Amino acid sequence: MRIFVTGASGFVGSHLVERLLAQGHAVSALLRKTSDTSLLGASLQQIQTVEGDLDPRAEASQELVAALGKCDVVIHAGGTTRKTKKTREELFRINEGGTERLAKLCAGLDKPPRLVVTGSIAAVGPSRDGHALTESDPCAPLSVYGQSKLAKEKAAFAHQGKLEVVVVRLPGIYGPRDVNFVQLARTVQRHIRPVGARRVDFAHVHDTCDALLACATHPKAAGQIFHVTSGPLALGEVGKTLARLLGVSAVPLPLPGAVLKPVSLVAEAIGYVSGKPTSLDLDKVREMSESWPVSIAKAKDLLGWEPRVTYEAGARGAIEWARAAGKL
Ligand SMILES: NC(=O)c1ccc[n+]([C@@H]2O[C@H](COP(=O)([O-])OP(=O)(O)OC[C@H]3O[C@@H](n4cnc5c(N)ncnc54)[C@H](OP(=O)(O)O)[C@@H]3O)[C@@H](O)[C@H]2O)c1
Repeated sequence: MRIFVTGASGFVGSHLVERLLAQGHAVSALLRKTSDTSLLGASLQQIQTVEGDLDPRAEASQELVAALGKCDVVIHAGGTTRKTKKTREELFRINEGGTERLAKLCAGLDKPPRLVVTGSIAAVGPSRDGHALTESDPCAPLSVYGQSKLAKEKAAFAHQGKLEVVVVRLPGIYGPRDVNFVQLARTVQRHIRPVGARRVDFAHVHDTCDALLACATHPKAAGQIFHVTSGPLALGEVGKTLARLLGVSAVPLPLPGAVLKPVSLVAEAIGYVSGKPTSLDLDKVREMSESWPVSIAKAKDLLGWEPRVTYEAGARGAIEWARAAGKL
C-alpha cells in the first residue's frame, strides 16, 4: 500500500514511518519547510516528501493533491500538541481547520483514500465514577487541547461517506524519542516519584503504531472510533517502576492541585510572555487531577488488535534510548 503520513517529523509520526517501511509499505509524508527531520533518521531517504502545511490558510499545492491522489490511506498524525500564546486560535486552526481541509481534499479525489485520524482521550474527558471510558461515552473535554481534538474528530467525520474515516483516541504516549518521558525520568532521578491510584493508562508508541496500522487496513475499522492504550496503569505504578529501573530511591510525592495550580499559573504567564510552549498550565493541572481509565475492548474485539508492551518493558526501552542519546 502507499500510505501518506502527516506529522512524520513528530514523535509518533517518526515511529509510524519506520514501522510502515519495515512492513514494506510505500510512504509519502507531509513536511513543513521548517520541520526538524532528525527523528526520521535514515527513514527520510526512503520516503517521498511533500512540502506543505496543515494550516488551512496556506493554499494546498498541486504536489500535495497529487500525492494524496496516489495513496490508499492517509494517517493524520500531525497537529498542534503544545500550547503557545496563540493557544486557542492555533489549536483549533490546525487541529480542526487543518483536518477539515485535509479531509475535504481527500474527499474530492477520484479514489478517496481512507483517513485515519490521531485523536485523544482528552476529547472524552476523565472518568469521574471510575468506569473505564468507552467510545460511546459522551464527550466533555476539560482542556482547550481536548476541545480541539474533539473538533478534529468532527471535522473528519463530516466527510464520512465520501471517504472512510477512522479515529484512534490515544492517552499519553511514551517510548523512545518522547520528551515527556525524559522529563519524568529526570524527576525520578532527582529522587522524586509520582504517587497515587489514579489511572493514566499510557500507550507505548509501538502499540500505538500497531493500532494505527490495524485501523489503516481492517475493513471493519471504517467509520469507527477506537480507544487505544497499552492497558490499565496507575500513576503510582509508573513512579515505582521508573525508580526501580533507574536504580534510584525516590520519595513518593503527591502533588495536590493546591500546589500545582499556582505553579501552573506562573508557568502559563511565562509562556504567554515568551511565546514558548509550556508543559504545565491550568488545563494540564485540571487533567492531572483526574483519573483516566480507558476501555480498549472495542479495538480488541473488532480489529483483533492487542497491546504488546508492558509498562516495565516499555519504560526499560525508553530509558535505554534516553541514556544512549545522552538525555539521562
Ligand atoms: N504524544 C502523546 O502523548 C499524544 C497523546 C494523545 C494524542 N496524541 C496525538 O498524536 C498525534 C501525534 O502526536 P506527537 O506526540 O507525535 O506530536 P509531536 O511530536 O508534537 O508532532 C507533531 C507533528 O505535527 C506536525 N505539525 C504541527 N503543526 C503542523 C502544521 N501546521 N503543518 C504541518 N505539520 C504540522 C509537526 O511538524 P513540524 O516538525 O513541522 O513541527 C510534527 O511532525 C497528534 O495528533 C497528537 O494530538 C499524542
